Amino acid sequence: MKKEKLIEKILELKRKRKAIILAHNYQPPEIQDIADLRGDSLELSLKASKTDTEIIVFCGVIFMAETAKIVSPKKKVLLPVKDVPCEMANMINVEDVLALKAKYPDAPVVTYVNSYAEIKAVSDVCCTSANAVKVAGILPDKKIIMIPDMNLARYTQRFYPEKEIIYFEGFCPFHHLLTPEEVIKAKKKHPNAIFIAHPECRPEVIDLADYVASTSGMLKLAKKLPNKEFIIGTEIGLLYPLSKENPDKKFYHPSPEKMVCSSMKKITLENLFNALENLEFEVTLNEEVIEKAYSAVKKMLEIV
Ligand code: 13P
Ligand code: SF4
Repeated sequence: MKKEKLIEKILELKRKRKAIILAHNYQPPEIQDIADLRGDSLELSLKASKTDTEIIVFCGVIFMAETAKIVSPKKKVLLPVKDVPCEMANMINVEDVLALKAKYPDAPVVTYVNSYAEIKAVSDVCCTSANAVKVAGILPDKKIIMIPDMNLARYTQRFYPEKEIIYFEGFCPFHHLLTPEEVIKAKKKHPNAIFIAHPECRPEVIDLADYVASTSGMLKLAKKLPNKEFIIGTEIGLLYPLSKENPDKKFYHPSPEKMVCSSMKKITLENLFNALENLEFEVTLNEEVIEKAYSAVKKMLEIV
């Protein structure tokens, strides 16, 4: 089917099914363009929970679709490709969390939303890359367990020398791959550009950043700042919305070949069409997991 015809069919089916299409900021351009909402994972789930559509089609990875299900348990949540994994979320399991809890029984578990529902269900509170520092600061505890991203935890630790943030050694392979040498090279090539890093990057890269922000934070900064050139330290997909929203500005990537999340690129117009036509692949979660995971998400929402 030709691309234009496929787009027409998707939009027609979306209306018929009373569905909403959500796309994460890293999705391929054609998926971002056809989506009703684009954003970071939690932002999308929260917006979707406020709409009256019966079906949510989540163009992203499984933990994002699960989060949508956690905040909208009555809605049907579909992922166009079955169980699209997140390599960071895959690094931790429930036993790992229980072992940390047993070792530090007084420390609350702060879990990054980039984790599976069963991990959220054994956590005290969730956080996102945009609010991790705020969540850790508001907790009165001197010892905090932060999972699964060690880079986000170590970034948060910088703000609270009086606290001890115990972390699990998980990481996003794509963000962790970015090296300080690559950033320095990009800075030499573009001396007028400022460098914005995602907190999933390693500490030596964070040290070189003018700003540290989540994907939505980067979009806001690019719009707000008077600067005309930016080096962007996150997954390559974000360059599309950045350039689209700021046609007068230039965005450079320090490692365009390495920082490509293959899972994020699995969604295509074809499988999006199939998802709407065949109502697949539905995200199902056990009620107890939804309830417990929701409690951790809700606590975060009360804090921020
Ligand atoms: P945010 O969009 O929340 O910054 O997350 C980045 C990411 O790695 C999503 O998979
Ligand atoms: Fe997971 Fe990293 Fe891909 Fe985000 S970019 S979905 S954290 S592997």
